[in-house]
Order: sequence, then structure tokens, then C-alpha cells
Amino acid sequence: MNLPNITEAKDLKGKRVLLRVDFNVPVKEGVVSDDFRIRKTIPTIRFLKNTGARVIILSHIGREKTDTLRPVSEKLGQSISHVFVEDFESEEGRKLLNSLDNGEIALIENLRKWDGEKNSDKKFAESIAVFGDIFVNEAFAVSHRKDASVFELPKLLPSYFGPLFAEEVQNLSRAFKTEHPFLFILGGAKFETKMPLIEKYLDTADMVFVGGALANTFYKMKGCEIGTSVCDETTVGMESLLDNKKLLLPLDVVVDGPSGKIVRSRNEVLSAEKIEDDGPETVKMLEDLISKAKFILWNGPLGYYEGGFDDATLAVASALSKSSAEVIVGGGDTVAAIERLEIKNPNIFVSTGGGAMLDFLSSGTLPGIDAIMKK
Ligand code: 3PG
Repeated sequence: MNLPNITEAKDLKGKRVLLRVDFNVPVKEGVVSDDFRIRKTIPTIRFLKNTGARVIILSHIGREKTDTLRPVSEKLGQSISHVFVEDFESEEGRKLLNSLDNGEIALIENLRKWDGEKNSDKKFAESIAVFGDIFVNEAFAVSHRKDASVFELPKLLPSYFGPLFAEEVQNLSRAFKTEHPFLFILGGAKFETKMPLIEKYLDTADMVFVGGALANTFYKMKGCEIGTSVCDETTVGMESLLDNKKLLLPLDVVVDGPSGKIVRSRNEVLSAEKIEDDGPETVKMLEDLISKAKFILWNGPLGYYEGGFDDATLAVASALSKSSAEVIVGGGDTVAAIERLEIKNPNIFVSTGGGAMLDFLSSGTLPGIDAIMKK
């Protein structure tokens, strides 16, 4: 895919650049607790600053109108000085944005404070477009949404992609033509969103391991006891996948219940127990598969990571750190595991996308890409 890249644009000096990024990062007690997405975007902001462009950064955070980008502004301020614009529609906000000098930067408050953003409202997009001469999409991670700033705004201005966006597309596209053996590891929950992906990669990958809460749904379809575990009920038409020899499920699991936290084989789970993580036999199987694979895609934790059931997820991350395969990893908790272990394996590409990564892998494009490419 040949994406128009802002780094190839000429004469950016003095131009007002609307830079859509994805600063939807976890915040705990008012402080950014994982700045991966911010760090990945800083080179693009610096590049634009150095060209003498006037940069207006746009992002969303969370799903509530009360969610604020203030903690992000504080974090970003440690690397890049900028003004924070609370309300771009107010007189003060307009004044701040219109008085930016060459090389200066502004960050606008959470776009989801305005209904127009989620409603793909063209008028809302127009109200932002008046502040810019050029639009840059550097928000791969939200480009699976038809939000106004992703889908409508690029239709109103000359538009480009950022270098990080291009890097995402280039790396994820490798999944469409891989070396073999190709191992796909999929965890997390959200059966409905991940199902098309499982179906697609059962065709092209050599092995598709489904772990985490997703696997509970498969167990249930097989008639196994899953106790009080997280599971999805919408499985219509999926039964045929169970016979596919490429589909691998956990061999054992960690359960929490009346006997405490213990390991059980998948056929021994009791009705009062909850499956919280994949077990050591499963990890062993995955370590073996990882050591033999030439291409590996991984999205989603293998257990309830946030709740501290992180052993299987960390063990897979650790196995990948030693792998010589080409590896692509994405999704919040999956990336958190890679970061936690400070893995530096140059063969691993860590995507900023969660849902966007999955949608791109499933369809080869995203609404945010089409909005620019089909103009
Ligand atoms: C993400 O974190 O996946 C993106 O920022 C999109 O967020 P959303 O799922 O709230 O639209």
C-alpha cells in the first residue's frame, strides 16, 4: 500500500498541521501509567516542529466525556513544550490556536467531549478543519473507527499519513504473505470481534492458538465444564471450527475457586471455579511452537492480566524475546507484558493498535485509510 507520507511533503514551514494521534492511554490517579503510544508519536511531532509547521494535536481518550487529556499533556510536556487548549470553540481557545507561531504546538482536549466526534458529524469535522491547512493521520490505533476526526476531517483538507502509521501498515501487511511455520496466538475476550480473524487465519497460518477467555467459549462449545468463567454466548455457526486440526486450545488452566488458585487440566474444571489463566503445560506447548515458528502474530493476553493472572502471558512474552522468528505483537495487555519485561528483540514489531490491528489483519484496510486513499 503506497500511503502519502507527511515526511515527503514539501514546504511545511508556517503551515497549520492538524495531527490526529491516539493518546488513548491508561491513566491511574491522574497520572499516565503507560506512555507507549505517546513515546511512539514524539518523533512525528518533533519532525513537524523542526519543519516550522504550526502543529495542532488532536486525540481522544477513554469513552466518557469527563475523560481528560490533561495527564497526557503533562506527560507530553516532559518531552515537548506545548499549549493545552481546553475548548477549541471558545474565544480563548480560538485565540490560542490562531496565534501559534512556526514550530509551536497545541494539544486540544479530548475530542470525545463533543458528541460530533463519535457521531461522525461532518459539521464537527468542519469546525476543526478551519484551524488547519493540512491533515495528518498518525492515529493508526483508532483508524478502525469512523469518528469525525478520523473519517470526515481528512475529506476536508489535503491529507497525509504519519511515519508511524506507515510503519504499522508496512509491518502488519507482512501477515498477508509470511514465512512458514506461521503461528497465530490470540487471547483476550471479545469472541465476536475476534471470530472472523480466527476463521481467516485458520486458512493462512499453520497453527492458531486460542487462549485466555476466548478459549472458554470454545470449551463450552465442546461441552466442557467452564464453571463461572468469562465466556461469550454468540457462537452460532462456529462449531465447525472445532474440527480444524490447526486450532489449538489450552491443555491446562489456572482456576480460582473453593480450593484456591490451582492448576487443572481442561477437563477437570469444577462448576464453582473460574478459569483465570492458561496453565504450565499450555505454556510449554507454546514455547515449543514459538521455537519452531518463522512468523508469529500475537494479540491478547492469555489470562486475566489486569487482575494479576499474568504468568502465561509473561511466559509467552519471554519466549518471544528469545525467538528468531519475525514477530508482530499488539493489544494493550500484550504490549504491557512486552514492556514490563523490557524486551528488546529487534525481530519483534510492537503495534500501537489493539482493535485496529485486528481489523487491519482481517480486512487489509481501515476506515481511516480509506478516507484518505479514496478521496
Ligand atoms: C484503542 O485504544 O483501541 C483506540 O484508542 C480506540 O478506542 P475505542 O475502542 O474506545 O474506540
